[in-house]
Amino acid sequence: METTLVLIKPGGVARNLIGEITRRIEARDLQVAALVLMKADRAIVEEHYGEHREKPFFADVVDYLCSGPVVAMAVTGTNAVKAIRTMMGATNPIEATPGTIRGDFALTIDDNLTHSSSDPEAAARELALWFPEGTVR
Ligand code: CMP
Repeated sequence: METTLVLIKPGGVARNLIGEITRRIEARDLQVAALVLMKADRAIVEEHYGEHREKPFFADVVDYLCSGPVVAMAVTGTNAVKAIRTMMGATNPIEATPGTIRGDFALTIDDNLTHSSSDPEAAARELALWFPEGTVR
């Protein structure tokens, strides 16, 4: 069993996709282990995107994630990290396969609707950042 972090970014929340994205996750037989709708703290977002600190898009992605409410979700299940990454589709939605969340609902990399942990180590780091109090199940 693995647990991974899913963020529904401000664009996904604004487009009323919380239900659709969560429905797909649960339909896959993955378990929502914690879920919160919040205005993200800037320091947490900067830490979250720490690996991109030197990239030209760092400031923009931090600004974007802080621009409106986000949903943070812990998702548990067999191979949850890979299963969720595959369900979300390619980071750049124009390359995402139809049937994935980005392939069905997104067009641009700046508004690719979701973030999900890239591997189990990233998942552990990101879950500790977004859910310091731990998950519910
Ligand atoms: P995410 O999975 O949240 O991780 C970093 C985010 O930066 C990524 O999704 C994109 O939304 C955003 N981003 C913007 N430009 C780029 C880029 N050129 N390469 C990768 N990610 C980018």
